[in-house]
Amino acid sequence: MSSQIIPVEPFDYVVFGGTGDLAERKLLPALYHRQLAGQLTEPTRIIGASRTPMTHDEYRKYTEDALKEHLKSGEFNEAEVQKFCARVYYVAVDAKGDTGWPQLKELLDSGNGKDCVRAFYLAVSPAIFGDIADKIREHKLITKSTRIVVEKPIGRSLASAQVLNDTIGKVFKEEQIFRIDHYLGKETVQNLMALRFANALYEPLWNSAHIDHVQITVAESVGLEGRVTYYDKAGALRDMVQNHILQLLCLVAMEAPSSMEAEAVRDEKLKVLRSLKPITDGEVEKHTVRGQYRAGASAGGPVTGYTDELGSPSDTETFVAIKAEINNWRWAGVPFYLRTGKRLATRMSEIVISFKPIPHSIFGDSAGRIEANQLVIRLQPDEGVKQWLMIKDPGPGGMRLRHVSLDMSFAQAFDVRNPDAYERLLMDVIRSNQTLFMRRDEVEAAWKWIDPILRGWEETGQRAQGYTSGTWGPSQAIALIERDGRTWHEMD
Ligand code: BG6
Repeated sequence: MSSQIIPVEPFDYVVFGGTGDLAERKLLPALYHRQLAGQLTEPTRIIGASRTPMTHDEYRKYTEDALKEHLKSGEFNEAEVQKFCARVYYVAVDAKGDTGWPQLKELLDSGNGKDCVRAFYLAVSPAIFGDIADKIREHKLITKSTRIVVEKPIGRSLASAQVLNDTIGKVFKEEQIFRIDHYLGKETVQNLMALRFANALYEPLWNSAHIDHVQITVAESVGLEGRVTYYDKAGALRDMVQNHILQLLCLVAMEAPSSMEAEAVRDEKLKVLRSLKPITDGEVEKHTVRGQYRAGASAGGPVTGYTDELGSPSDTETFVAIKAEINNWRWAGVPFYLRTGKRLATRMSEIVISFKPIPHSIFGDSAGRIEANQLVIRLQPDEGVKQWLMIKDPGPGGMRLRHVSLDMSFAQAFDVRNPDAYERLLMDVIRSNQTLFMRRDEVEAAWKWIDPILRGWEETGQRAQGYTSGTWGPSQAIALIERDGRTWHEMD
């Protein structure tokens, strides 16, 4: 079975931070894959921009090396790479000064550039978002089909997010601003919407009458990966929960939007964020756990602890677990247990919907324990869906029951390559489809819920609990859910 490729109109993608990690690891490979898929039309160009002086040819070489390093084996096709490099250009620009801007304008206006969709991707520190936006305006680079793409972190609190949104909002209209949360581009995350709203089966059960609780786990086995300065100032709550995990929670909890139109979907997500029960000072210690990895083992080898990797003492959390609640008719009384961390036992993200137990068993004790049904949506790796059910153990010898899963692995069901989240998102920018991007009010509503937790941690002095690398986090995270008579779903 193959997916349908709809070519997009020609575009100029200007990547600020063109020599940075994100461009190299994600953006250039994603655009190359879209070319391979036949989605790019001529005269599409990719223009790297950063401070480093470089010629077009030097950047083409840089691009080729990046593709060599980051494509999977068999994906590097010499002829396609040459064709891709031929659409790559480079301009050295100074975000704060005027160097390079006239050259960028000249390049953009050359050829058919003026008529192309123009996308400015800010793969740079948010500290210079405002400077770049101002320069784009000052040098008259905005055409009627211009968009701007920004990456997180969008602020580190509600107040700073508002400042950043205002800064960009002075130059661009909301419909031109694409705030990326790459989790929304993941196939299985989009599948959550398909599962809920393209099937009649689950929706009638999708509420507090039938669901006991929900678990969302995003576990990583990697550590800091060299992102020392950023990560130590952010921590897991800002880095993962404020954006990725809350977006997942929204997709699980939202009402059916009237359509897949961007505003319809984003309105529903916003309502969920606004219904999150605030975790206020007195409750922070009870409902949240902070952790930090110590030395241990990961991916089969010994690894050092967070502070050794950092090279200085720190209380930044690399793990967080939260018991969240949603104050609305559908979800009142259903806890959402959230957890994420680095250097955990394995890389694994999943959403577990635990249904309520049956009201009464007609089977005797000899049938064994009757487990509640669970729907497990595996986001990565091995994307798929498992529905856990009770069945009769096969064979004679009485009625014994067994918990088994109906298993759908996407890799087995579909013989297609799973595209990286950025591929979909980069093309959505060109198509001007904002459904999978965060609107300003969503980002700010998420911060409004996160801020009191951060404040509570500060005020109560809640410390990050140590956990051994390669485990599932601090014991306090296990206690957080076990206090309620529940357990974390065991990853298999
Ligand atoms: C990023 C975080 O947004 O997501 C990283 O900043 C994290 O800390 C990454 O490692 C996880 O993304 P993925 O796609 O590998 O699950």
